[in-house]
Amino acid sequence: PKPKILVTGRIPESGLDILRSVGEVWAWPGDDPIPADVRDEQLAEADAAVTLLTDRVDDGFLDAAPHLKVVANVAVGFNNVDVDACRSRGVEVTNTPGVLTDATADLAMALTLMSTRRLGEAERVIRSRQPWKWGVFMMLGTGLQGRRLGIVGMGAIGVALAERAKAFGMSIVYHNRSAVDGEIEDRLGASLVSLDELLATSDVVSLNCPYSDATHHLIDEAALRSMQSSAFLVNTARGPIVDEAALVEALASGRLAGAGLDVFEHEPEVHPGLLDLENVVLIPHLGSATIETRGAMADLAARNVVEVLADRPPLTPVP
Ligand code: GLV
Ligand code: GLV
Repeated sequence: PKPKILVTGRIPESGLDILRSVGEVWAWPGDDPIPADVRDEQLAEADAAVTLLTDRVDDGFLDAAPHLKVVANVAVGFNNVDVDACRSRGVEVTNTPGVLTDATADLAMALTLMSTRRLGEAERVIRSRQPWKWGVFMMLGTGLQGRRLGIVGMGAIGVALAERAKAFGMSIVYHNRSAVDGEIEDRLGASLVSLDELLATSDVVSLNCPYSDATHHLIDEAALRSMQSSAFLVNTARGPIVDEAALVEALASGRLAGAGLDVFEHEPEVHPGLLDLENVVLIPHLGSATIETRGAMADLAARNVVEVLADRPPLTPVP
């Protein structure tokens, strides 16, 4: 019999076509999360599951899936998947690195520009329909040239952001578990520093690290206090890396100049305090949201399923 493949939400058709070439595909047609009872009924038969970052893949999920061989998460982040629980049951876990690097780095650069040039606030001026006049001192922002970007988490996305920021005339420091390739450091003029030094000296701090117990509230009240009051925070990684309540305090009190956020601590909830602030740009988790990238992510997830169902190693197992 053909293997059965559950897809927990809508994904681009090209990915479904790849899956249909090797198995019988059942995809939840809604944009709302799949209801647990529907999911479990499908998991009872499933050999493979293609999951989204809004799915929680835990013991409850796995208990319902006795035949499961692979969980292919359509995201580079996989904090929604209990990898140890999967491994202990012999279930492979894959993610989609590489294909979303440029889109996510572009968005981090966009949030850097939007927050330093006050573009969200500026757009709201026009949309308010209030009269406005050009003025020499109107809505002055901060230029990026000669400023320091501090990148927390120097993986592929961090490096791609550094390339963009370098083109804008920024200097780069980064914090990572280990130093990146010397050749990359030389090309970017980037150097590894402690998190303390990065926070204290950077004009823009960008979070590009995975979320785990180790990075939960990495940016807490103390970290925010150690940043310069002229500095900006950009988060395109995962919301809970930042203590959102502490961030509201820092932004509201002027201890931090501004922030650009693509992700939120209790997503899709956004801290109400953020909504009242002019100096924060709020984007609904769009880091990888281009037509090209979402297609490539679906295809890569599907190709991982193809490999595992053919008893071959997956292309991009989670590290
Ligand atoms: C998106 O947030 C991803 O992890 O791919
Ligand atoms: C601004 O619009 C300028 O021309 O300098």
